[in-house]
Amino acid sequence: MATTLGRRELRRLHPLLGAEVLGVDLGKPVDDAAFALILDAFNEHSVLVFRDQDLSDEQQIAFSRRFGPLEQTTRSVAKNPKIAPEIADLSNVDAEGRMIPPDDTRVVYHSGNQLWHSDSSFKRVPALASLLSGREVPPAGGETEYASLRAAWTALPAERQRRLDGLVAVHSFAYSRGLVAPGLLTPEQERELPPVKQVLVRTNPVNGRKALYVGSHASHVVGMPVAEGRALLLELQALATRPEFVYRHAWRPRDLVMWDNRAVLHRGRPWDAAKHRRVMHRTTVAGDGPTVSEA
Ligand code: OGA
Ligand code: MN
Repeated sequence: MATTLGRRELRRLHPLLGAEVLGVDLGKPVDDAAFALILDAFNEHSVLVFRDQDLSDEQQIAFSRRFGPLEQTTRSVAKNPKIAPEIADLSNVDAEGRMIPPDDTRVVYHSGNQLWHSDSSFKRVPALASLLSGREVPPAGGETEYASLRAAWTALPAERQRRLDGLVAVHSFAYSRGLVAPGLLTPEQERELPPVKQVLVRTNPVNGRKALYVGSHASHVVGMPVAEGRALLLELQALATRPEFVYRHAWRPRDLVMWDNRAVLHRGRPWDAAKHRRVMHRTTVAGDGPTVSEA
């Protein structure tokens, strides 16, 4: 039987963002009516939580594809050859199921996810949505936090909004991974991912809601001295990640969390990675085009 979903089967998780979607089994084909409700909820709430989803990679990929074409993982040191290219494997466990030591380059590389960011904002076409499946989660720590970039925009006085709207920022993976540790990327990886331009203020085409598009990949602002632009981006990021704008997701095994990279920043929280396994598989829905025309 295909999954159906009634209108009332949504539970708000936070006043500003996040809703739990009840009564849906994503392992089965989701019918068009249920999918339309999920898509509406995604555009409205920015973060959707689906509990008790015992998904294989294939099932996760099939559901994710309903939202659009998927990104393939950028070649990284952490790549596990047994896993499909549509799956980003954020685990501290290797292809043989052994725990990877916390100081291993693969784990340090993923620790960049503990900085506030929007997925793939360092790509010319940044990600629309990410779907993260908690296959094994630690008993404490390892939460994922989501911050509302819409709330940040709304909090700004109209005069400030007017001056920010239309600005363009340069996003760079080499810059953000440089914040984690120097020399984390090989020269080849740096060449694969040159800096790109992104608008600073994004508008959701469905409901017109605006969001401040910042995060750790955002390096500086076009037409401003680097230091000044960087200070502006950090100020706006600090605004967006004020505690009252943040939903913290405490993982249970088999949670699937989906978020709108146009409307939220996210970051992983630390856990005792020497003791506990954390196996997380992400699919990433590509955006429909660049945010600036001549990026
Ligand atoms: C991601 C990410 C953080 C986490 O999946 O894109 O940043 O908590 N995850 O694992
Ligand atoms: Mn991420």
